[in-house]
Amino acid sequence: MRRLDQLLANLGYCSRREARQWTDAGRVTVRGEPAGDSGAKADPAEVRIDGEAPDHPDGLLLLLHKPAGLVCSHNPGEGPRVYDLLPERWQRRNPPVTSVGRLDRDTTGLLLLTDQSALVHRLTSPRRSVAKVYEATINRDVSPDEAAAITALFAAGTLTLENDPAPCLPATLEWTSPRTATLTLTEGRFHQVKRMFESQSLAVTALHRSRFANLSLSDIPVGTWKELPLDLAIG
Ligand code: URA
Repeated sequence: MRRLDQLLANLGYCSRREARQWTDAGRVTVRGEPAGDSGAKADPAEVRIDGEAPDHPDGLLLLLHKPAGLVCSHNPGEGPRVYDLLPERWQRRNPPVTSVGRLDRDTTGLLLLTDQSALVHRLTSPRRSVAKVYEATINRDVSPDEAAAITALFAAGTLTLENDPAPCLPATLEWTSPRTATLTLTEGRFHQVKRMFESQSLAVTALHRSRFANLSLSDIPVGTWKELPLDLAIG
């Protein structure tokens, strides 16, 4: 059971104050009857708002194909955000829809978005070591010997990054051409892929995340998302 004004406000329909106007105007019904009091409690399954069932009352989990040029920050001052792709009502939800970890502005690919904070913590916890797969393009061709040396170094679990004394966990690097490679990480440090290549004097010129745990983008078009069940086993 949830208070109607809280339900409407938390799902992004309107403010709690406006919820009172909505109920007064008969826009909210419970079991088919107009809800008289916006402070009354009701089972969301029995509530209708303008004749429709409440929008995802139990939460949201989305698999987004992130385009380049959008930030994962909530701060609009940082430029266009991934959240701007979502319906406005979802952008007003509380708890807010947030990304599971972050991708850089210029990185494309698989990004999970959810309002389930426990899920965010579980999937970003260093103890969980969730696998993330990145397709990286670098600024020049590397020779087969150099490629093999970098692969061995990344796998060794000894690589340290600038301003970060803890060595990176072993990572799997597979070269797909002299300047493209697939890197699988089980941690998520700030700009980690770019910094790992930078440590070898290589610049990443394009980065795409193709997998997150057991999830892949399949054929989701860029800039769109697929809804996932909240109880999906991710790992
Ligand atoms: N590593 C990076 O350097 N950038 C990303 O966006 C993700 C991982």
